[in-house]
Amino acid sequence: MLVRCYRGKLSVWAAMCVLVLCWFYVFPVYRLPRDKDIVEEVLKQGGVWQKNQTGIDLYRKLLTECCDPRRMFAVTKENSPTGKVLWYDGEFYHSHTVNNETYPLLVKDNPLRLPLKKCAVVGNGGILRHSQCGRDIDQADFVLRCNLPPLSKEYVDDVGTRTHLVTANPSIIEKRFQNLLWSRKVFVDSMKVYGSGYIYMPAFSMKTGTDPSLRAYHALADSSSNLTMLFANPEFLRTVGRFWKARGVHARRLSTGLFLVSLALGLCEEVTAYGFWPFSVGLDEQPVSHHYYDNILPYTWFHAMPEEFVQLWHLHKSGALRVRVGRCSAQGGGG
Ligand SMILES: *[C@@H]1O[C@H](CO)[C@@H](O)[C@H](O)[C@H]1NC(C)=O
Ligand SMILES: *[C@@H]1O[C@H](CO)[C@@H](O)[C@H](O)[C@H]1NC(C)=O
Ligand SMILES: *[C@@H]1O[C@H](CO)[C@@H](O)[C@H](O)[C@H]1NC(C)=O
Repeated sequence: MLVRCYRGKLSVWAAMCVLVLCWFYVFPVYRLPRDKDIVEEVLKQGGVWQKNQTGIDLYRKLLTECCDPRRMFAVTKENSPTGKVLWYDGEFYHSHTVNNETYPLLVKDNPLRLPLKKCAVVGNGGILRHSQCGRDIDQADFVLRCNLPPLSKEYVDDVGTRTHLVTANPSIIEKRFQNLLWSRKVFVDSMKVYGSGYIYMPAFSMKTGTDPSLRAYHALADSSSNLTMLFANPEFLRTVGRFWKARGVHARRLSTGLFLVSLALGLCEEVTAYGFWPFSVGLDEQPVSHHYYDNILPYTWFHAMPEEFVQLWHLHKSGALRVRVGRCSAQGGGG
């Protein structure tokens, strides 16, 4: 009797513990430093940054071991021959088998000429507005951008003009270009700002993303566009996700930005990140919008942006990459 009662209490306690642990897993924000503390720390660091070759080499080695970005970042004929099963990284138990319809769409091998020297990874954060970072960004040897950002004249001073690789979320093809059912020309024309770079699409992450990605491929191919389509390799996305999860990033899915930073750390000799600032207030205590091209204030749900920023800042402090959060023209404007 006594034993049974004791057991009953124990299981209640166990259940409570599990609930608390789940809570911390789902809402890890509570284990993070407060936004204000992070901002203060960034200000304290100022524009001081020192490259750390040991750190750069270490992260390249770690990423090569876990994720092999050189070989695996895209789906290629080399890593995905006909019959290869690609498991979607954003779905539970769903796969695509490379067949004689998809195989011809793949690039032969990793098309990037490696190693890349100076890389700029440009996030779309509102922190870029009035940053004057455009010239800095354009001076990089390889510029990576997120999710087909606008590069029109009004933004050039802040974000630059050159693009070597730009990611495109399939949902943008559906929403902005009506799934390319009757707006293929609009799509192809608006892709011209990205010159002759690569469009990097997670075609095999979500079931609903495959069709729009293949349509985008054909729209570009049929118009003999100068852009080359690369499909993100779901295996790479998964291993990179695991890499950061082991370092305390608990988002259900990583943001595109952290994927690109990881890719750049694996492929480039020097990485600078721009436009990453997941906080609603800037270093000058002025409000910061979600994107440099809109006025929407940030929210924290799907992506664990502050967690990701803490990782980036850690890399910045140890000198493995540089995070720019202030104005680029001013000396020492905060990183
Ligand atoms: C350079 O990077 C290595 C590896 O991350 C780290 O152990 C070391 O402390 C860093 N050096 C400095 C000066 O931050
Ligand atoms: C593709 O494969 C199917 C079945 O394996 C075959 O019937 C078809 O002829 C092939 N198509 C081409 C274009 O090779
Ligand atoms: C492709 O690039 C060439 C040379 O830069 C340019 O003349 C041509 O207009 C471009 N084509 C498209 C479709 O953008």
